[in-house]
Amino acid sequence: MRRPLVAGNWKMNGSRSANQALMHDVAAQVAALDSVDVAVCPPFVYLEQVSSLVGSAIALGAQDLSDQDEGAHTGEVSGAMLKDLGCQYVIVGHSERRTLYGEDDAFTARKFAAARRHGLKPILCVGELLEEREQDITEKVVARQLDAVLDLEGVEAFRDAVVAYEPVWAIGTGRTATPDQAQAVHAFIRERLAGHDASVAAGVQILYGGSVKADNAVELFNQADIDGGLIGGASLKAADFLAICKAAG
Ligand code: G3P
Repeated sequence: MRRPLVAGNWKMNGSRSANQALMHDVAAQVAALDSVDVAVCPPFVYLEQVSSLVGSAIALGAQDLSDQDEGAHTGEVSGAMLKDLGCQYVIVGHSERRTLYGEDDAFTARKFAAARRHGLKPILCVGELLEEREQDITEKVVARQLDAVLDLEGVEAFRDAVVAYEPVWAIGTGRTATPDQAQAVHAFIRERLAGHDASVAAGVQILYGGSVKADNAVELFNQADIDGGLIGGASLKAADFLAICKAAG
């Protein structure tokens, strides 16, 4: 049985004071939730501060990592450094990395591999652009993104990884995928993994991300193949994030 997971992706937001206030309101109440795993993914520069604020109830995640392990890679952050700071998860292949910073499927797959080398649980983001959905090639896009990692790391790698389906047209737009739309792609992802190994497919958590809010979380998370959410904007508001975590539990 898959435990639900709700991860907050803070993106490039926060400050020391705002982080302190947010985590003060969230940490104590999340501790009372025993049927959902919760993680927060602050910007790199706040990982040490937030690590001291999460307590035992919340896991720490990072929003990205280098595909390299160490050395002359100015500006990069290695998986070893993230592990050193207490990270358990790391997001790879977020659509903002793919669309805004040109990270392709092969690069994402290398980052997924780097995460595993350093004992981090990758949250692999996949999802289509609006025009790709309109062209009815969503499954082709998601399959291509998934297969790049399967080809490099194999299906066993997903025994200790998370997949997040994030339709790009739903991210930050308030235009959430319908539960049926999301479930269809989640089922496709699980079936594609099952084609390699049924037990891995049955056990992998597949999160939905893209304008998850307190008022739509329950219906989304009630879908058979939606195991929680990767939450952007709503993760920066304590009441909303807590409501979403409760909806997943
Ligand atoms: O990684 C989660 C993020 O892309 C979703 O953002 O603001 O639509 O919840 P948002």
